[in-house]
Formats: sequence, structure tokens, C-alpha cells
Amino acid sequence: MIILNHTKTKMERTFKYEIMPEIKSRWSPRAFSNEKISKDDIMALIEAARYAPSCFNEQPWRFIVADNHETLTKIRSILAPSNQIWADKAPVLIIILSRKTFARNSKDNYWNMFDAGTAWGYMSLEAQRRGLITHAMGGFSKDKTREAFEITDDYNIITVVAVGKYGNKENLTEELQDREHPETRMEIEELLL
Ligand SMILES: Cc1cc2nc3c(=O)[nH]c(=O)nc-3n(C[C@H](O)[C@H](O)[C@H](O)COP(=O)(O)O)c2cc1C
Repeated sequence: MIILNHTKTKMERTFKYEIMPEIKSRWSPRAFSNEKISKDDIMALIEAARYAPSCFNEQPWRFIVADNHETLTKIRSILAPSNQIWADKAPVLIIILSRKTFARNSKDNYWNMFDAGTAWGYMSLEAQRRGLITHAMGGFSKDKTREAFEITDDYNIITVVAVGKYGNKENLTEELQDREHPETRMEIEELLL
């Protein structure tokens, strides 16, 4: 029997064009330190999100920010176990919601999640600029979140984002240590239809 000894080579990110340094360096780590981050940093992330563009300037994004024990515990309990295992350490968890209808006329806002996604993008890049790390999670219970925070049906519950400082990779499980690196991307040509 031949035993193949696979040595995993991690692919590196490549850039053909000069773009914002924060876009190049941002990634989604899991090795959070439990060190607290300042209120000023947290509010600056909300400010960055605030200035995202949106359809009719509706600004459909809303945030539930947890940086105290009680609210952090509440949000941790709604995360999928596969996320709890690393996100429990993050000193800040933010639930991102978006309003489904336009405030002006109560009509459906088809673009609400698109706009909230832009706001998350701005937030993550400002975090990167400030030396903070962010990791978005789709793995959580929307039903439990709606119930725990009494969120009405007029809001989409989109994601939970962990924010903090980089900690020690060695504290992750072996499997997660293996995945603890920036992901690569498809080629530009593959994106153009
Ligand atoms: C909406 C959304 C949901 C995600 N859900 C999870 C999740 O539940 N658990 C997780 O570990 N990572 C999650 N991620 C992180 C992605 O896996 C990650 O962004 C992607 O692999 C690209 O890697 P990079 O951010 O390091 O460039 C999510 C990211 C986004 C934007």
C-alpha cells in the first residue's frame, strides 16, 4: 500500500491591481483575544457603516451591539455551536438587521440587504484600519434572535459579526488552526460574465 504524504501548501492571495490596503489585508480570523475594545472604536465602526450608500438614502441597516456580559451571553447563546467554539472569546458581537420596507411609503425595499451588506463592508474596513479584526457569521438561529431581542417581522436578521483584537492561534482547535489564514479568491476573469 502506498501512503501519500500530503504536505498542504496554503495558497497566497494575489493582487493584479493596486487597491486600498485595508481591502488587501482584511480577512476573517477566528483567534480572538478577549481583550476589550474601546467604546470609541465600536462607535467608529457604526459611524463607518452609517455612511454607506443606500437606495433612496433609506439607511435600512440597524445594529444590536453587545459589549457587556449580559448582552454578550444572550448573543452567544444564539450562535451555532461551530461558531460558539471560537466567537465566544470576542469582546464585541454585533447583530446586523435591515428594515424590509421603505419608511417613506411602507413599500417593499428590494435592496435592503444589499445596502446592509455595504454597511457591513464599510464597518469591516474601518475595523481593519483601526487594527481590529472582524468575522461575520451566518451560522446562528434567526428564530431565537427574533424572540430574544423582540425583533418585529419588518426586519431581516442578517448576520452576527464578531469584533475584537487578534489573539493566539494556538488556542483554537487543531482543525480551526488549519483554517486560520486569509482565503484566496476567484480570478477577475471568472467574475466577468
Ligand atoms: C454573510 C457571511 C456569513 C458567514 N458565516 C460564517 C460562519 O457562520 N462561520 C464562519 O466561521 N465564517 C463565516 N463567514 C466567513 C466566511 O467564511 C469568509 O468571509 C470567507 O471564507 C472569506 O474569507 P475571508 O473573509 O478571510 O477573506 C461568513 C461570512 C459572511 C460574509
